[in-house]
Amino acid sequence: MPEDRMEKIVSLAKRRGFIYPGSEIYGGFSGFWDYGPYGIELKNNIKQLWWRMFVQEREDMCGVDAAIIMNPEAWKASGHVAGFADPLVECTKCKRRFRADQVGDTCPECGGSFGEVRQFNMMFSTQVGAADGALSYLRPETAGGIFANFKNVVDSLHPKLPFGIAQIGKAFRNEIAPRDFVFRSREFEQMEIEYFVRPGEWEAAFEEWREQVHAFNEAVGIPRSLVHEIEVAPEDRAHYSKRTIDFEFDFPFGRKELYGLAYRTDFDLKAHAQASGADLTYLDESSKERFLPHVIEPSFGVDRTVLALLSAAYAEDDLGGESRTYLKFNPAVAPIKAAVFPLLKNKPELVAKAREVYAMLKKSVPQVMWDDNGNIGKRYRRQDEIGTPYCITVDFDTLGEKPELKDTVTLRDRDTGRQERVALAEMIARVAV
Ligand code: GAP
Repeated sequence: MPEDRMEKIVSLAKRRGFIYPGSEIYGGFSGFWDYGPYGIELKNNIKQLWWRMFVQEREDMCGVDAAIIMNPEAWKASGHVAGFADPLVECTKCKRRFRADQVGDTCPECGGSFGEVRQFNMMFSTQVGAADGALSYLRPETAGGIFANFKNVVDSLHPKLPFGIAQIGKAFRNEIAPRDFVFRSREFEQMEIEYFVRPGEWEAAFEEWREQVHAFNEAVGIPRSLVHEIEVAPEDRAHYSKRTIDFEFDFPFGRKELYGLAYRTDFDLKAHAQASGADLTYLDESSKERFLPHVIEPSFGVDRTVLALLSAAYAEDDLGGESRTYLKFNPAVAPIKAAVFPLLKNKPELVAKAREVYAMLKKSVPQVMWDDNGNIGKRYRRQDEIGTPYCITVDFDTLGEKPELKDTVTLRDRDTGRQERVALAEMIARVAV
């Protein structure tokens, strides 16, 4: 992988409207990023695919959308207020702060020595209410809102074990050292599942979800060859976990965690039951037994999925004697599925026909774009850079200049640059995969 690959990806992401530095006109704000017009389409495609695959297409899953700010007692019970911390060191000379596990013995900025390592809690706190604002927190994981609604979901839907509750939403961590673009930021999005099982059945569920993580990667187009499973050592696991597998990805800056899969036992339900006084046991209708279900948790970062897809899709080649950059996204996640062009912009009959084709296609595929800026070559390059799988050109043959080609268009493939003449119905079928 070329050394400047990451800079090229960050630069393309900004130039082409995927991801911008947060608050950029004020000089930025470390650890915060804004998604632009194509970034939000890409992100929504990822989230919709995940939700369809893990919630809508399964009978044993349902979703919630809980509040980001919860009663602070919930975060005390979950162990986050006391223990959700990273080791921090401060340089005695320049006072800069670093994560102790990411630096050596001396300050990388000035060579000074470090003071004592201390634990820095990553919870963002906030004041709730006008009078003497009560201290609360922005959630550091979406899981909390799922556990807090376990009883509500059981009481309203009466699901049979095993079943899972899914949630997609923002999470916040006051990271000591946000870095590597959207890989480690202070505000990010998670897609999480808490899958509740009978205590003796956790291993089978763990294996099933291990497979499902790979199935999701395949569906979005993250190559299997770039994903590596790591069994996390007991001393490195989160406080609630008895087994964790990290799914690492070969990012341009190294092999790093993409997703996690954890066996959280009954740690959370037990802790919330004790702290809240609510009965969170589950009554098994068949055995008439009451117990606290155990939990398998697959946790996916949306932003890391975006970054993995950008890294895997970024490509450069020579096409027709010209060098180009393109994103070879899987069509399922591509922000724009096809772009429609009139061959010439100053021929009203061509423009009218191209508009007709565009409107027809947009009815079955909403993520279609109109483009009549510059010449065809420029339009191709622009679409290649945002990863559009197909470009469709309406020309004089579409209008019937050669009668046998009436109502056909040229369909150009992003990866090969090859063009084919296809009838309108076939063009729609090819784009609407
Ligand atoms: N509920 C379990 C949990 O939150 P985690 O390993 O701390 O576990 C899960 O986070 C996933 O969330 C990670 O695998 C990653 O994809 C994403 N994630 C965590 N911290 C992040 C950060 N600072 N920036 C971007 N994504 C992050």
